[in-house]
Amino acid sequence: MSEAETLLARARAAAQDAYAPYSRFRVGAVVVAEDGRLFTGANVENAAYGSSVCAEANAITTAVAAGARKLATLAVACLDGPGCFPCGNCRQLMREFGVERVVVEEPGAGALVVDLADLLPRAFGPEAL
Ligand code: THU
Repeated sequence: MSEAETLLARARAAAQDAYAPYSRFRVGAVVVAEDGRLFTGANVENAAYGSSVCAEANAITTAVAAGARKLATLAVACLDGPGCFPCGNCRQLMREFGVERVVVEEPGAGALVVDLADLLPRAFGPEAL
């Protein structure tokens, strides 16, 4: 199994803990910090829908709360659809903490590795301030 596929398997495992009673769309994510540590997250929804948190956001904020400041790779997987790309909000969160590449599932084709710069071109980031 390639490293990207291993990360997707970790993301799928994390998705098992999703709390998604409203969308029934379970998502899991794993982020690899520059120092090699791995952090996982799943989407956690809320009856007030707008208070829901994406899997990627939970993985990233868990990493940051554990002291990580520079992240390298993030993998995301969903159990209830044909793969998913991160939402715009999560792409910006990835930009803040230096995620360089994102691993997603390409339906029928396994792991697809995409540069964050291609998902969020000409991004606003911390160095602009
Ligand atoms: N969701 C994620 O957790 N990550 C994504 O990349 C796309 C969407 C969640 C949000 C919500 O709980 C559910 O999937 C449906 O949008």
